[in-house]
Amino acid sequence: MQGALGQFPEPIHRLFNLGEERGVLFGMSFGYADDVDANKARTVRAELDDSVSFYE
Ligand SMILES: Cc1cc2nc3c(=O)[nH]c(=O)nc-3n(C[C@H](O)[C@H](O)[C@H](O)COP(=O)(O)O)c2cc1C
Repeated sequence: MQGALGQFPEPIHRLFNLGEERGVLFGMSFGYADDVDANKARTVRAELDDSVSFYE
């Protein structure tokens, strides 16, 4: 996720030809990781039940 795209949306508006009535809240990137050390960092994850509550 990239919240920064919501703060600096001009390139996204230009690339996708979005009208001014369209807002950018955030971006999500997809792709293949380069083989560099920065991409080898791994973070620990909390269990889903410890971080999310579902209500019906
Ligand atoms: C709501 C949200 C907004 C984020 N915005 C940015 C951002 O603008 N720039 C950035 O470098 N990382 C941002 N991050 C962090 C990355 O998406 C990502 O979580 C981080 O690089 C750690 O990677 P991992 O979650 O796969 O461990 C954001 C994460 C969240 C949850």
